[in-house]
Amino acid sequence: MTPGQVLVHLVFPATFSAESARACLPDLEKSRADRYRFPQDAFHWAACRASLRMILGHAIQLPPLEVPIILSEFGKPLLAPPYDRVHFNLSHCPGLAIVALCHDGPVGVDLEPLDRAPDLLECEATFCHPQEIKALPAEITARASQLLRIWTAKEAVLKALGTGLSHPPETVRILFQPPVGTATSDEPLAGIGEQHLHELDHPALAGYRAVLSATPYQSMIRRIGIMLE
Ligand SMILES: CC(C)(COP(=O)(O)OP(=O)(O)OC[C@H]1O[C@@H](n2cnc3c(N)ncnc32)[C@H](O)[C@@H]1OP(=O)(O)O)[C@@H](O)C(=O)NCCC(=O)NCCS
Repeated sequence: MTPGQVLVHLVFPATFSAESARACLPDLEKSRADRYRFPQDAFHWAACRASLRMILGHAIQLPPLEVPIILSEFGKPLLAPPYDRVHFNLSHCPGLAIVALCHDGPVGVDLEPLDRAPDLLECEATFCHPQEIKALPAEITARASQLLRIWTAKEAVLKALGTGLSHPPETVRILFQPPVGTATSDEPLAGIGEQHLHELDHPALAGYRAVLSATPYQSMIRRIGIMLE
């Protein structure tokens, strides 16, 4: 990984066994996995965290168990100094996760299944900017699809910012100008500056929307690595 590159890894949790996933986790994270009520959710979380530790470990030349992951005040996982020049973010859905990492600036990523789109109808006021609401199509399928597009982009930006949805999403406005979009906000996106949004496209992402948010000088995605395929 060199400056200017963002590496995007697709992770398939099912390629792990429960034992191989847990072997990569420190005790604290094993306990976190154990707090899930359903075993399949515990397995999914452990496999995604194990993949994250393997990817980060490769980037900073440490064994997965020794990767020093800390949490920001808003719960964003980060690498502890002196490894904090590597920025990363993760998003997961049942059966699939995405990990993005790069040097030199914050990144955010969000992954959503396409079949979530109808759930967003009638919720636009809770997360859309008034200008976005004005521009929504009236036809119901197109409207749901555009709402999911806005939601995924917005989560990616707010995950780059590190606040997640603690920053009011309805104050953020997404401007889609393929191949990259941009985000502006009525309340400053302090600390991350301008962000470019990349709607990710890959055969394994059929059935999902996936958006990467990164600073403009990190706009090149040089590789989509398929983790543990
Ligand atoms: C972060 C957030 C947007 C995640 O949304 P989601 O669609 O449910 O989940 P995703 O799969 O896309 O992302 C989850 C991952 O994002 C990362 N994450 C967690 N908090 C984050 C944050 N504040 N910023 C960026 N990334 C974050 C983690 O890696 C998490 O994976 P994990 O559960 O395995 O640790 C949402 O949980 C949120 O807004 N949280 C608010 C943060 C907050 O208020 N925290 C209070 C203080 S702890």
